[in-house]
Amino acid sequence: MSDYPSSFPSTRLRRLRRAPWLREMVAEVRLHPSDLIWPVFIQEGNDVSTPIASMPGVFRLTLDLLIKQAKEAAALGIPAIALFPVVDSTRKTERGDEALNPDNLVCRAIRELKDAIPQLGIITDVALDPYTSHGQDGLVKDGVILNDETVEILCKQALNQARAGCDIVAPSDMMDGRIGAIRGALETEGFHDTVILSYAAKYASHFYGPFRDAVDSAKHLGGAGKKTYQMDYRNADEALREVALDVAEGADMVMVKPAGSYLDIIHQVAETFNVPVLAYQVSGEYAMIKAAAEKGWLNEELAMMESLIAIKRAGASAILSYYATHAAKLLLTSQ
Ligand code: PBG
Repeated sequence: MSDYPSSFPSTRLRRLRRAPWLREMVAEVRLHPSDLIWPVFIQEGNDVSTPIASMPGVFRLTLDLLIKQAKEAAALGIPAIALFPVVDSTRKTERGDEALNPDNLVCRAIRELKDAIPQLGIITDVALDPYTSHGQDGLVKDGVILNDETVEILCKQALNQARAGCDIVAPSDMMDGRIGAIRGALETEGFHDTVILSYAAKYASHFYGPFRDAVDSAKHLGGAGKKTYQMDYRNADEALREVALDVAEGADMVMVKPAGSYLDIIHQVAETFNVPVLAYQVSGEYAMIKAAAEKGWLNEELAMMESLIAIKRAGASAILSYYATHAAKLLLTSQ
């Protein structure tokens, strides 16, 4: 390296930025539709698409519309979708029983999707929050979120989803020890090929606000919120400990969430471990770009692409984003 002169004027870094073709040729990171995973909100009913106020352009979909839109997503080259149910408040209980119903909304969605679009991967959330009356991801006793008791139910929830035909179960609850327990449960029932995507480094973030509106899970979250199980955003070393444990327990892929304010975490996890690292561009990140664009303060498509490329440059193998289909369309038309 030092044998070569690398100072001005023999080196002029602007030479490679001179023209679009040249910038294209030397670009270090490229985004492709196969990098994008589409998170979708689903609801009961027929032919209804309900807008979400804090996420313009995102809708809660009934299953008939989900199938149509999922077909379009698959045609764009999106490899997988992640399902998030909006559960009717009459079905929410203290213990989140509906999560274990083999005929719940998520299980029906999995079966219908697999039937209609077998080549599209399906990711389901393992956590109790859409199903609990209190909105916590686990069981609550005297204000404390119970760990081991919750893990037992999460194993049953993951099995319920695997039996319905889900490809990837994604525990997003942050209970300790749940990856090992879920892996054991899946093995015991013969689900050797069910992938576990662990939300290994999931932070107690204020950027989840719009999501909680979307699934209606925030109303009763008081006190410490989710801070006794989701990570403190001041910590980075701890994220590496979380990932190490989850990989040792049998996670096939790990998630960092949110993404945009956590690029350092994505980078460190990707450098330290040789497992695929996914990142979740969460509802608040989407809402910020949308809101600024609606005010005419940002160019939405350019800001969207920059935010997604930044996450990939940090080291993510794939990105969950509410912009997945929009970005995929743009990528296909700009080639
Ligand atoms: C909960 C869950 C959350 C998100 C995905 N799964 C929110 C939370 O932890 O309260 C957030 C996603 C987003 O904000 O887009 N299991």
